[in-house]
Amino acid sequence: MKQISYGRQYIDKKDIEAVIETLQSDYMTQGPKVKEFEDKVAEYHGCKFAVAFCNGTAALHAAYYAVGLEKDDEFITSPITFAASGNGGLYLGGIPKFVDIDKENYNIDINKIEKAITDKTKVITPVSLAGYPVDLKAIRKIIENTGKDIKIIHDAAHAIGALRENRNIVDYADVTILSFHPVKHVTTGEGGMVLTNDENYYKKLCLFRTHGITKNPDELEENQGAWYHEMQELGYNYRITDMQCALGITQMSKLDKSLYERNKIADYYDNELKDLEWLILPINYFKKEWLKDDKYKGLKIKPENLNSYHLYPVLLKDPEERKSFFDYMRENNIFVQVHYIPLHLMPYYKKNYGYKRGDFPIAEDYYSREVSIPMYPTLTKEELDYIVNTIKNFKK
Ligand SMILES: Cc1ncc(COP(=O)(O)O)c(C=O)c1O
Repeated sequence: MKQISYGRQYIDKKDIEAVIETLQSDYMTQGPKVKEFEDKVAEYHGCKFAVAFCNGTAALHAAYYAVGLEKDDEFITSPITFAASGNGGLYLGGIPKFVDIDKENYNIDINKIEKAITDKTKVITPVSLAGYPVDLKAIRKIIENTGKDIKIIHDAAHAIGALRENRNIVDYADVTILSFHPVKHVTTGEGGMVLTNDENYYKKLCLFRTHGITKNPDELEENQGAWYHEMQELGYNYRITDMQCALGITQMSKLDKSLYERNKIADYYDNELKDLEWLILPINYFKKEWLKDDKYKGLKIKPENLNSYHLYPVLLKDPEERKSFFDYMRENNIFVQVHYIPLHLMPYYKKNYGYKRGDFPIAEDYYSREVSIPMYPTLTKEELDYIVNTIKNFKK
């Protein structure tokens, strides 16, 4: 069996042709494809504004900036996430605060958020880990009860297209960020996006992406001629290219199919692995009975709740066995991965913010057992059978 990765892009002829077409056009960087891609993703999520960035980390940096995080402001996120969820706030001088994870769904523990809020808290950045949509409605309610002006940045890098009670990843958030890294559902090579319904944030995001420079005559302090532009804020070069967005557009047309196939794979794993008493599977919160009904095929109609299944994280009951399971899978050409080493235990976070082992015990326990097994829509039946049989043989 050739190597099977934990995640993988799906590129077809249409994707390749779209990129070639852009290469032959007049635009390589900021052309018409950027706006077309932004509109497509915004429309898919029923939101007003979208701003594409060169990667999801830049999108996070811009999101923290847009909602007004400043030096010494606190922001709260989950310790089980990729470094970017926190780093976006650090770039602006924010102070990272963590809330431990929920031991069943692995997202930030909603019940512990209120206690972590202080007078300095400006932002909460929940992450929909592995594609399971975090309960944003509950977080919004907690914030309302405090009476404080705290913004929500939803890190939906894993959760494009996810639904919770028919509400999507944009609802209840001030801004939502996406990543288009190749292991994600939709790829542009590198790429990211911020989604929002707030026009003021939209304007700030556009400025931040382009050095803080505007050419819009309505926004200029003065106008000296057609060449004239002003740098009004300190921004960055966080632009994405037309070539990448052309790919993003064709990738978006495959998103529903990808989400459908991922749910089918999760259902297969759920059924095949459920009897292994040494393995803990992700809880099937959103039952997948709808997969049996043809009207949902390819997700032409969406169920009320939808897990995006970016990852399929399994936990070893005995953390002592995690390393041998991980090594065993890799020896068998199944390139599993661990998501994530808790962010508060990264040397930089320990050194600069005083975090230490034991601070977030549920996250640390989760990390000590976790392995992500392959999850991407083009896994074949033969590969899936091989993965499942290899796992079953681990203890034989
Ligand atoms: C949860 C999460 N947030 C943010 C990012 C950052 O995205 P990017 O790699 O596009 O910069 C990632 C990337 O893997 C991620 O997993």
